[in-house]
Amino acid sequence: MIPPKMKRVASGIVPIIAINRKAPTALHKQIYDAYRTAIVDGSLRPGQRIPSTRVLASEIGVSRFPVLNAYAQLSAEGYFESRVGAGTVVSGSLPGQFPPSQPAGVRFEATRCGPRPVARRSLILPSPESSPWLVGWGAFSVGQVAFDQFPLRVWSNLVARHCRNMDAKSFHYGEPRGSKALREAIATYLRTARSLHCDAEQIMIVSGSQQALEISARVLLDPGSRVWMEEPGYRMARDVFALAGCRLVPVPVDREGLQVAAGVKLSRKARAAFVTPSHQFPLGVTMSASRRFQLLEWAQNMGSWIIEDDYDSEYRYESMPIASLQGLDAKARVIYIGTFSKVLFPSLRLGYVVIPPDLVDLFLAIRRVIDLRSPTFYQEVLADFIVKGHFARHIRRMRVLYRERRSALVDSIRKELGSAVEVLGDEAGMHLTVTLPKGSRDLEIAERAASQNLWIWPLSSSYMGEAPRPGFILGFGSTPVPAISPAVRKLAQLLAAKGVRQ
Ligand SMILES: Cc1ncc(COP(=O)(O)O)c(C=O)c1O
Repeated sequence: MIPPKMKRVASGIVPIIAINRKAPTALHKQIYDAYRTAIVDGSLRPGQRIPSTRVLASEIGVSRFPVLNAYAQLSAEGYFESRVGAGTVVSGSLPGQFPPSQPAGVRFEATRCGPRPVARRSLILPSPESSPWLVGWGAFSVGQVAFDQFPLRVWSNLVARHCRNMDAKSFHYGEPRGSKALREAIATYLRTARSLHCDAEQIMIVSGSQQALEISARVLLDPGSRVWMEEPGYRMARDVFALAGCRLVPVPVDREGLQVAAGVKLSRKARAAFVTPSHQFPLGVTMSASRRFQLLEWAQNMGSWIIEDDYDSEYRYESMPIASLQGLDAKARVIYIGTFSKVLFPSLRLGYVVIPPDLVDLFLAIRRVIDLRSPTFYQEVLADFIVKGHFARHIRRMRVLYRERRSALVDSIRKELGSAVEVLGDEAGMHLTVTLPKGSRDLEIAERAASQNLWIWPLSSSYMGEAPRPGFILGFGSTPVPAISPAVRKLAQLLAAKGVRQ
């Protein structure tokens, strides 16, 4: 007869139990005391698995008898309980004579712990709670993609295949710049679709464009360096440069993009300019050809750098994608940043930076200090996904889908909000911006909207200075067409309640 297959019970983590063989206390009592103290002070929590007697005995170097004795006593007193399929766990209801342990966070009182100096720079960043519109899921959350349309079957087949074929090399640190196969695939894509001048040696794979910004700041900028920032602009970039101690110079954006002449007037000798020329964040304008040449000329004349964030250029609806600034740059002044967060999905945390050839070693040196390199597994999966044509197919499919969602949103805004708002930046990407009449309190409205499950980013939070126009950034990536009208109607009601006339 074949014996029934035993279900393997997950093993518990072995706690620190300092056994003292010279102490007069018996071994089983030492084990019992260690567990009881850990349970009462909350180091071990209800439901947590306890290692088997065999495992514990071997780990702490005693025979099984004292461990069996201690476990029997802890069970008899109600500290341990047996659960079917889970083995022995810390009891859900502790014996009455002990007060329930408090979580570590409650016991900790900073005021009683003496001075707690932290870097002044760390205090300049906003706390996440101050932006409730960032946390929600659904309409009109910015940065969320049509996750239900992702070719999961293709992706999971590739994941499974790569997992099966892992060898000794796959377990070690990968190449400093990232997977060669992925860099080659990205270089081909960028040369073809974005007119970049680059080869795989100039590409470094990073954990999303956020890390590319962090590395670029460390390589290019000193504390006090001036950096042109688009006004309004991308808050996450602003925070990186502020954290690096840079002096941010807000340069206004108009219908042609960053006003280069204004930047020159404000700070001709700035060390760098951060721009989103393909689809300005958040106003959505495309930088005109003449502004592109002015910006490059300024950088070349002043020996400054241009950091180009090309975060969603794959999705253009009205015209062909515009060639990148990097592709127009004859003097290697542009650091080009791209991401898979929009075109695939953000939890992948994969992006890339195209580095001028003479700076590659510096980027590598800085990267090494930060996190050595990105995890390799998904890089190899992604390389295959691109090389086998799934990436190009996905972009084509999503362009159609997002165009439909965009049109539904624009139609609905016109119908429900009428002349109260102006729509900007709907030619590309997965978000658009609406501006409200002067004096509307977009921050207040966004906070109220978040409490009603509408996730709208207030435009004024994208300004460093006072916002000339209030408004909202509305993402439409994850909102299917039938859900768009009801969400806009809800927004219209909210605006009406806040006195914004339609
Ligand atoms: C302007 C801009 N750049 C880049 C990103 C993507 O950042 P990451 O690649 O770090 O996910 C976003 C995402 O919303 C963005 O709005």
